[in-house]
Amino acid sequence: MQKVFFDYSGILDEVSAEEVNACLKKAVSARDKLINKTGEGNEFTGWVDLPVNFDKEEFERIKKAALRIRQDSDVLIVIGIGGSYLGARAAIEFLGNSFYNEKDGLKVYFAGNSLSQKYLSDLISLVKDKDISVNVISKSGTTTEPAIAFRVFKDLLEEKYGPEGAAKRIYATTDKEKGALKELADKQGYETFVVPDDIGGRYSVLTAVGLLPIAAAGFNIDRLMEGAAEMRDISLSRSMDIPALNYAAARNALYAAGKKIEITADYEPSFHYMNEWWKQLFGESEGKGHKGIFPASVDLTTDLHSMGQYIQDGERLIMETVVEILDQPGDIVIHREEDDTDKLNYLAGRDMEYVNSRALEGTMLAHIEGGVPCMRVTIRDQKEYTLGQLIYFYEFACGVSGYMLGVNPFDQPGVESYKRNMFALLGKPGYEALLKEITEKAAARSKEAAK
Ligand code: PA5
Repeated sequence: MQKVFFDYSGILDEVSAEEVNACLKKAVSARDKLINKTGEGNEFTGWVDLPVNFDKEEFERIKKAALRIRQDSDVLIVIGIGGSYLGARAAIEFLGNSFYNEKDGLKVYFAGNSLSQKYLSDLISLVKDKDISVNVISKSGTTTEPAIAFRVFKDLLEEKYGPEGAAKRIYATTDKEKGALKELADKQGYETFVVPDDIGGRYSVLTAVGLLPIAAAGFNIDRLMEGAAEMRDISLSRSMDIPALNYAAARNALYAAGKKIEITADYEPSFHYMNEWWKQLFGESEGKGHKGIFPASVDLTTDLHSMGQYIQDGERLIMETVVEILDQPGDIVIHREEDDTDKLNYLAGRDMEYVNSRALEGTMLAHIEGGVPCMRVTIRDQKEYTLGQLIYFYEFACGVSGYMLGVNPFDQPGVESYKRNMFALLGKPGYEALLKEITEKAAARSKEAAK
């Protein structure tokens, strides 16, 4: 059953239905390009068929490894960055209890997603006396942040369990045959899982990259894949009402009308990392050739008390995508109080889900009135099947939207620039000329600023 829906009626003050329909026609052509593999970057579109065409043998190994981790460990450290980090974290936070690491059972912590010495030291002191497993995830196997974190945890595990014992607790998710991590894993005898060649980092959450941590955290990855498969069927169908195509069409119509920033607004704290994942997916896919919608996010109602003013009343560059989640768990009903000092008695008998939903509707109306066109993604619940649909919906919309914009949605040439400079400044062999060049440029700028 369909669990994820999309509605663009809240943008029609800004763009006409005819304009959206014209974009919808472009979205259909872009979809044909995507599924027929005739567009740029088509060698990285393996994710399109992934929910029905994945390695079943590996899938079973993932479930077995997850079970082993849950049986022999107190803690799983998931090491990775960008596309090798955000999907797993987003899924675990979306599906899990808001305080999942405070509850009994396996704790899941993430590392290698920054270069913070403080974070890594704090994490080590937290877990060093527990039983630990590590899932190191890197497609290239050479990314600096996870490589450093892995070196640190590998040492810790080898000290605790000896090299052989450590090897049984380290799971490497990487390229199927090349790269430093693959080489090390083969040498040390780690169990390995594959990041398929035809799937880029930000589209990889439904591969072992996301599936092993999600399964280890106790979630049903069969249901996740089934949900994704259903949204794939919907997205590839000839229906005139396909959520991903409507979304791609609506945001491109708004971009053409001058809305350069898309803010995703959730009303559920456990959606925060889904927004982080969504920002990477769309930002890295579309921000190219000096084009692209800038993806931003807010957690509401929290950020209404910080960013609300700007959204309502600042520069009119913004479109908003409101994420509405139905069927909230819990049952907190506001009770009547005799003296009503806090003036909440008008809500007596209502639950918090009702209050939150009224906040969403009221805010959305205010934003539309204020010149911020609002789209709406409605999600039935926070279960695995629904999440599978949601992931596929966003990925498909992103591929289509990128083609509509005229960019290759599957490469990321821009992320290399900072790495080259960082390597030069760290003194990595081979970067001597670049070090000289950037040092001279920085000195010239300082001199100019001092004038
Ligand atoms: O989407 C991407 O390709 C990036 O965000 C990568 O996932 C990120 O840079 C990590 O790369 P790797 O998995 O090679 O360590």
